[in-house]
Amino acid sequence: REKHNMSVILLGWYDENAREMPWRVAPQDRMAGVTPDPYAVWLSEIMLQQTTVVTVKDYFQRFIAHWPTVFDLANAKDADVMGEWAGLGYYARARNLLKCARTVVADHGGIFPADHDALLKLPGIGPYTAAAVSSIAFDLPYAVLDGNVERVLARLHNIHTPLPEAKPELRALAQSYTPSNRAGDYAQAIMDLGATTCTPKSPSCGICPWRDPCIAREKGTMADLPRKAPK
Ligand code: ADE
Repeated sequence: REKHNMSVILLGWYDENAREMPWRVAPQDRMAGVTPDPYAVWLSEIMLQQTTVVTVKDYFQRFIAHWPTVFDLANAKDADVMGEWAGLGYYARARNLLKCARTVVADHGGIFPADHDALLKLPGIGPYTAAAVSSIAFDLPYAVLDGNVERVLARLHNIHTPLPEAKPELRALAQSYTPSNRAGDYAQAIMDLGATTCTPKSPSCGICPWRDPCIAREKGTMADLPRKAPK
């Protein structure tokens, strides 16, 4: 109940504060329950894995302009895709991107499966991407756990266990806050909250929608969290 209320509060914050990104649907469409193109969600989430939102925006738009559908990408020449990927780094991602596009066309008729376990089996799709596509494209209640989400939840619950040891606890919390309604908006809301408000260095607790329930805020431990085990 309590967690449900908190998720609803974060969704309300997202309705007012969602960052505009080329792979997101326009606010008025989102309010009408429109979900984004799974191909666009998948492409953006692969690009976002080791690259910032600012850098990804331009690459994403060039990719979509060249290859508007998964069929176009599956039919692309390897060298053309590698050329457009140049600068994003981690070239194994680009190779897997093509492999995945070709598998979606060959084995799924060009339709990304609306099924978490089927997504996990695709080339280059690991637990993060499977959860992101499941929630954002299909509104299935899978929790995304990236660095932003880990920071928000470690602070909210004042978790001092260092990463990576804290991951199972954070994963369970992430799942427990994920609502069955608007799971995709919720996933992007908590990532946006971490990126814009619950930032690593000087978090803007004064304007945070989760200011009241946040235990780190109450105890003044925000700057210490999340803890990381020494390398
Ligand atoms: N980081 C990775 N994917 C994201 C998304 N969909 N929204 C905001 N930040 C993200």
